[in-house]
Amino acid sequence: MKKFTLGNSKEEVLKLVPERVIKKVILGETSIGIMRKGETFHTFHAFCPHRGASLIQGNINSSGEIICPLHQYRFDLETGQVKSGYCGDLTIYPNELNENGLEITIP
Ligand code: FES
Repeated sequence: MKKFTLGNSKEEVLKLVPERVIKKVILGETSIGIMRKGETFHTFHAFCPHRGASLIQGNINSSGEIICPLHQYRFDLETGQVKSGYCGDLTIYPNELNENGLEITIP
């Protein structure tokens, strides 16, 4: 398990990641997507568990689900659970926003 910290402060991370825009970061050997709503961050595997499309080009709907651009499968960003489609769940990485920045844990 590895912990990574994005930014140097809470304010810096809030500026770095605009609301409801999916950003990609590479932590070690893992590509992850980041999406923020207010001060809540969602950190998830950057590639769809169905056929590996990039979720960085995905869309977020009003229920807080990410929609894959390739076959439009939907995943809950809180839990990673697949909401429409037939594949495994999306990997979600735990994160915590604190005064040092955004800490993301990669198992
Ligand atoms: S690759 Fe994402 S839904 Fe098929």
